[in-house]
Amino acid sequence: MSRALVWLLLLLIAPSWSAAESGRTIRVAEHAGVPPLDPADHAWTRAAATRVALYPQATAPGGPGGAVLPVEARALRGAGRLAVRLAWPDAHENAAAPLATHRFADAVAVQFAPAGKTLPYVGMGEPGQPVQIWFWRAGQPAQRLAGQGFGSLARSPDAAPEARARRTAGGWEVVLRGEAGARPGAAIAFAAWDGAEDGRAGRKRLSAWQALDVRGGPSPTALGAEARSSGDPSRGARLYTEHGCVACHAPSVGLGPSLAQAGGIHWPGYLRRAILEPAAFRVPGYATAMPALPLQADEVEDLVAYLMSLH
Ligand code: HEC
Repeated sequence: MSRALVWLLLLLIAPSWSAAESGRTIRVAEHAGVPPLDPADHAWTRAAATRVALYPQATAPGGPGGAVLPVEARALRGAGRLAVRLAWPDAHENAAAPLATHRFADAVAVQFAPAGKTLPYVGMGEPGQPVQIWFWRAGQPAQRLAGQGFGSLARSPDAAPEARARRTAGGWEVVLRGEAGARPGAAIAFAAWDGAEDGRAGRKRLSAWQALDVRGGPSPTALGAEARSSGDPSRGARLYTEHGCVACHAPSVGLGPSLAQAGGIHWPGYLRRAILEPAAFRVPGYATAMPALPLQADEVEDLVAYLMSLH
């Protein structure tokens, strides 16, 4: 048997996607006392660094497009506080200036989903599944926001996080520190805006939910079916064409969101629900709705496995 054939067979029998393998986990290190706000503090070297890919938000018209942004994330917890340190490349510093309202600033956000069986829509949560957001914009104090879906973003009455930023040779290092978000079972996601690209609102790059791995908390795989898909991606690719998904979802058509990077941004559970019960959550910004299609359970799994392979 040729080596290529062996590989192909291995690929076909391997479970398509599992959260444990994809490394969608942020390990939170314990810190004695309040974690440092200074991105250059030595304590940060004790927190595991995770590389997280931020994808251009496909659902925003006129969104940034282009390349994936690699962000390095670290987290420390101590004295009832969680601190998250994000480092990412950004060639030009763009800070908010009171007199230059036409200019846009570099910004970053940390989004928290409460512990639950399912994960909310990663773009600002959804009705009934609220998310908390820590938001930092260069040159301004950090804010705390609450979202229950696109356009529902509001200042949160809870205490704002603290933030400190440092400009490096080719990018930013920012620490955000606050009270919430350290609960076991919670998930965390990141977003970044580049002022040089006129980044604002939906014109951002966004990561998938990452399971927060805290001491004493459930293992990140406790998300169960949310985190697993056992379908066959190559069958899924065929079904994708046969069932006419392309007719709406091809980026050139634009009747539905581009799914070209669906596996980088979403979890299997979200994709499964989007296909099986499209009415459960409506992705904002589209004139038409996702139709409920007559699919067998195994066909749905194959489609999910195929979409998870796209990133
Ligand atoms: C008639 C057009 C149409 C067809 C055909 C269609 N979709 Fe959709 N789909 C949409 C629209 C519009 C949305 C966004 C609005 C909504 O959620 O209702 C969407 C949303 C989705 C989402 C959520 C995407 C996100 O970014 O959150 C997934 C996943 C999806 N569709 C998968 C599929 C699959 C798989 C097929 C084929 C089996 C398919 N769609 C066929 C129009 C379509």
